[in-house]
Amino acid sequence: MRRVDLIKRAFASPPDPRYSPTLWQRWWEEKSANYPVTPDELIVEITNPESPTPAERRAVCERIQRFGVAVYRFQPSLNRVASSSLKPYLLRFAGAFGLKRLDANLLADDDGITPITVHESGERARYIPYTNHPIQWHTDGYYNAPHRRVRSLVLHAVRPALSGGENRLFDPEMLYLLLGNENPDYLDALCAAETMNIPPGRDPDGYERDWSKGPVFFWEPYPEGVRLEMRYTARQRNVAWRDDATVAAARAAVTRTLNDPASPYCLKIRLEAGMGLIGHNILHTREPFVDAPEPEKRRLLFRGRFIDPLCALE
Ligand SMILES: [Fe+2]
Repeated sequence: MRRVDLIKRAFASPPDPRYSPTLWQRWWEEKSANYPVTPDELIVEITNPESPTPAERRAVCERIQRFGVAVYRFQPSLNRVASSSLKPYLLRFAGAFGLKRLDANLLADDDGITPITVHESGERARYIPYTNHPIQWHTDGYYNAPHRRVRSLVLHAVRPALSGGENRLFDPEMLYLLLGNENPDYLDALCAAETMNIPPGRDPDGYERDWSKGPVFFWEPYPEGVRLEMRYTARQRNVAWRDDATVAAARAAVTRTLNDPASPYCLKIRLEAGMGLIGHNILHTREPFVDAPEPEKRRLLFRGRFIDPLCALE
């Protein structure tokens, strides 16, 4: 297969409601026409994850293009495959969309896929992903250095929780558009350098890291043009925001927009066994959950964070 297209809209220069109103309006109309959407509309059935058919790949790419993410469902017979044997399937499935280079971390298994399950003791138990607590809005690896920027995600459910554990999802492109419609100054504030700064520390993946300073939104250059990327966390602790009134107002607008219970742009989905997300590094939460009492029935997800951008291949 050869790469034919990155599954993300490229622009000659960043669209702006003040300086390029026609382009902005066209982009807004394109994106907002996709909503409202039901979670079922995001689901693509995959017969053989090791080699998705061209029609399946097209269906996945089309959803990622529109919503930043697709939900796939592997055929039920794969649910009988031992979880340790599933990872090669996941890696090949991801590879069918151009995802090869993992942001492998210290707590990931050797293959770079991280099992996410509740740990009651040990190193992992100190970090929220390995508890049953809720995780607030974030993009993955928001604390990463630029050379380890997480551009794409695969999140696969081996076993769901007894109850809860849903993910809320929000396409950063849609958030950018909504903020720009509300007040373009918010875009300036959130695109400015050193707006969201994460102090040195040990990240949940076990790395000791230096300051991670940067904007919230940024336009990454590609040969085809610039594409929107985002680093963000809603957590209050261990984040040094630039001390600026417009940044504060923009942050409040982000919080309000993401948590608006009536928003047609926020999707909530529960991944059942054999289902997963593949997409850009979009905004997401995890709702709290209740696990089965037996350790072997605990919620188990496999997570792959990729440095590569998603591609449509042919
Ligand atoms: Fe995450």
